[in-house]
Amino acid sequence: MNVWYRLHGARSSIVIKSCQHGLPEVVYWGKTLKSVSDDELAGLTDAVLTAGYLDQFPVLSIIPELGAGFHGEAGLEGHRQRQHWAPRFQVTAVETSDRELVFDARDEVAQLMLTIKVTMDTETDVVGFRSSLTNTADSEFLLHRLGNTVSLPAYADELLTFHGHWAREFVTGRQRWPANRVVKENRKGRTSSDAFPGIVAGTPGFSEQSGEVYGLHLAASGNHRLVAEKAVQGGRYIQAGEWLYPGEVALAKDESYSTPWLYGSWSGDGLSQMSLQFHRFLKKRLRLDVATQPRKVHFNSWEALYFSHEPKALLKLVDQAAAIGVERFILDDGWFRGRNDDTAGLGDWYVDERKHPGGLQYLIDAVNQKGMEFGLWFEPEMVNPDSDLYRAHPDWVLKLDGYDQVLGRNQMVLDLSRPEVFDYLYERIDSLLSQYRIDYIKWDMNRDLVQPGSAGVASVHRQVEALYRLMASINDAHPTVEIESCSSGGARIDFEILRYTQRVWASDCIDPVERQRLQQAYSIFFSNEIMGSHVSVEKAHTTGRSTNLMFRLMTSLYGHMGLELALDSLSADDETTVRQLLKYYKDNRTFFHTGDWIRVDTPESYLLCNGVVSTDKRRASFTIAALDRCDYLMPGRLRLTGLDPEKRYSLTAIHDPYAHHGQLRPNRTLAADAGIYSGDALMKIGIQLPVIDVASAIIYDLNVVE
Ligand code: DGJ
Repeated sequence: MNVWYRLHGARSSIVIKSCQHGLPEVVYWGKTLKSVSDDELAGLTDAVLTAGYLDQFPVLSIIPELGAGFHGEAGLEGHRQRQHWAPRFQVTAVETSDRELVFDARDEVAQLMLTIKVTMDTETDVVGFRSSLTNTADSEFLLHRLGNTVSLPAYADELLTFHGHWAREFVTGRQRWPANRVVKENRKGRTSSDAFPGIVAGTPGFSEQSGEVYGLHLAASGNHRLVAEKAVQGGRYIQAGEWLYPGEVALAKDESYSTPWLYGSWSGDGLSQMSLQFHRFLKKRLRLDVATQPRKVHFNSWEALYFSHEPKALLKLVDQAAAIGVERFILDDGWFRGRNDDTAGLGDWYVDERKHPGGLQYLIDAVNQKGMEFGLWFEPEMVNPDSDLYRAHPDWVLKLDGYDQVLGRNQMVLDLSRPEVFDYLYERIDSLLSQYRIDYIKWDMNRDLVQPGSAGVASVHRQVEALYRLMASINDAHPTVEIESCSSGGARIDFEILRYTQRVWASDCIDPVERQRLQQAYSIFFSNEIMGSHVSVEKAHTTGRSTNLMFRLMTSLYGHMGLELALDSLSADDETTVRQLLKYYKDNRTFFHTGDWIRVDTPESYLLCNGVVSTDKRRASFTIAALDRCDYLMPGRLRLTGLDPEKRYSLTAIHDPYAHHGQLRPNRTLAADAGIYSGDALMKIGIQLPVIDVASAIIYDLNVVE
């Protein structure tokens, strides 16, 4: 007997079928579907038993079973001393509520219990999948994989995936859903910059404002495996779970393993709406209230000083930073014992008194006296072989005995699952946070894991669990301290790390041309108030490209803004511009961070547009950036989105007249009296854009007029 379960959000529904022979299956996920009867569902979805195939159809369930004849990517793989490698479950109990379905299932032969959870966040329409496996036998069950699987409709025939690398994160790729399996795998032990655990499937040609799209994100900060496949028996699915090393998870009697959450967002109105739902979901869970605690302007010492921490220079920077409008001063890498370059010191979390005689108090006092908060950089999970910590405890690292460890940035990874390592790190961070007034931690993690063994056993899963525990302990002991997740820039950005952190460093690349592209792709899953976005010098350190100041400032405006440059390098005019734009950020940040951050389809691919619309739709701001030259004499019209068609808006443009040396052909929209327009006209007719220079931007500010 089939039983149908439904969860409804504000704009979407998900329908799950549970049958006697098989685990629950997603049979519908899409636009709200409230009135459909069980009979209709049964009639419309009845499977066809074809010749040349099994007599019982294997269900494309949330955990598809090899033991039931599912020959695609099985949701569960493992064995017990070479037995019980093809289990088959029977659902034994179902608990339901408006927001959650919990299916309990059992395999009496393999002596395994499985729990599958499906949730719907009814305010944001984000669905969640999580499964847990429990071993009930006396002998150990070795788990290879437990991945949640979402069956998708055939019309979702185009995939959007992510790749990239250090300083070029969140590169997107589009392809028709191929006949062959698409696999995105990460074995690097951190969320990764080259295989971000997210994927979107949608109707071919989907864009920001059109098409039906399904976004899925695995909330995991270690290894993962993501598969998109057309199943041979028809249907298609995306499966996501942790990628496990051989022997990594062994369940003793009554032990359980739970998958990371797989979150999903559906939209019938294109990608931007799908993202908005993810943003709203994330905002609900963040330990952050941007309305009462506006996001402070940062100054980060890294690109200004690198490792040369010299008190006189630091104090000068503090004065300059305060004068220009900075509100939080962050001392990056280089402050602790032995840290003069990246070859030594990691692990020795004691202030280097040779650089900072008497400790950091002098600097924190200066920062606080100027009305700023103080933040400090850590990379807790790492150790340099050239450190007192490593010399005292060479056995504290993840390793496999008998091999020389492969170093990354001259460092090794501490084994956080060892209590003595965990306690040491907790003690060091806690004591510095207790001794000094530190309001913010930049928590870095700068290498991929190789041979991550703990007592010879692969230990990424346990490492990541211990990391979450360490962060949670710091959160509990120091609830007002904000943590930023940084990992060589953007290699650890995911919904799970964001349970413990309140900011992410999106990339080490601060070149605004790169950032415009990166931020658009980042925003597919993540919101702007947590996106660290800094302004650096004219010639970007990671690309060598030179860009004008106004473009750099405009590119940082909607995120959590900061400066990361030698302030001496600014001319008097530049200083005035920075001061003005920081003031503009401060005046508008509550709107930027509480409004809806959206992306807008542009008439030409060289233009990127994103903007913020306040939730009451009385205020909007759209940034249009030109990353190349126009193929035509003028670009097409830009149709805005998210406005109230009934309201009338005044239009004001912010742009840098000096940035447009050759190309600028101003039109009415750049004039002081650009006019008043209805939301309806702005969204249907659109705005004729002026021609602007490469690597420059315009911001259109819209305010409702009564
Ligand atoms: C990598 C980070 O992404 C940078 O911002 C900086 O903090 C360095 N590490 C410091 O080593």
